[in-house]
Amino acid sequence: MNVTIIGTGNMARGIGTRLLAGGHSVGLVGHEPGKAEDLAAHLQEAARSGATVTAVDDGVLPSEVVVLAVPYTAAALIVQQYYDQLAGKIIIDITNPIDFNTLEPIVAPGNSAAEEIAKVAPAGSKVVKAFNTTFAEMLVAGQVAGQPLDVFIAGDDEAAKATVAQLVRHGGLHPIDVGMLARGQQLEGLALLGIMLQFRLNTGFQTGWKLLMPERG
Ligand SMILES: NC(=O)c1ccc[n+]([C@@H]2O[C@H](COP(=O)([O-])OP(=O)(O)OC[C@H]3O[C@@H](n4cnc5c(N)ncnc54)[C@H](OP(=O)(O)O)[C@@H]3O)[C@@H](O)[C@H]2O)c1
Repeated sequence: MNVTIIGTGNMARGIGTRLLAGGHSVGLVGHEPGKAEDLAAHLQEAARSGATVTAVDDGVLPSEVVVLAVPYTAAALIVQQYYDQLAGKIIIDITNPIDFNTLEPIVAPGNSAAEEIAKVAPAGSKVVKAFNTTFAEMLVAGQVAGQPLDVFIAGDDEAAKATVAQLVRHGGLHPIDVGMLARGQQLEGLALLGIMLQFRLNTGFQTGWKLLMPERG
């Protein structure tokens, strides 16, 4: 499968690494000249045979799945910029709507970035919340303390969630479907707690949330 990542920062690197390791091809969209090319060159070595990573420089999103690897505050603008092209596509929202100076949420209680992005996305697009509780550095590694990362997935379209779960699984991670898109509220809360704990426990951004389950026979 081809996946487009909008953004060329830490999460683009982490998610790109896992997609390429899973044999999927990645197109990178930057907003400053050279950054997508630089990241593509860097990610090349993560690509399993057959997978390619390229900079997208013609403004055309070349895939059915698009990851918004940008700050929440930029997400709505980007959706607007690519509005016509996003119709019918799976939009993966990874954002955490946090004021990083105060560590306070910037969406009201009872709301989420995921739901706000879905409101501005074109009809027929399918917004899926995923990867917002996984730290970028740990995505590059694919695991924490020998355990594959859990990737919590929320969305209202079952087929879209299944596609995202498959991408996650192929990258060596463990997908967990948490339900409808509004569960993004809880996932964004979980991510905020995770960020706060990094400082409290002085771990660096090197932890991961893990749901322990009984083995199924
Ligand atoms: N870092 C993590 O561990 C982590 C974990 C979970 C979720 N997240 C979420 O993932 C998202 C990305 O985080 P990150 O750590 O990758 O951030 P980052 O390293 O700062 O990268 C952000 C990317 O967004 C681009 N960008 C910023 N404003 C833009 C705009 N107006 N239009 C187009 N592109 C724009 C930046 O481009 P330039 O560099 O050219 O400005 C950069 O490529 C955020 O929403 C964050 O909350 C991060």
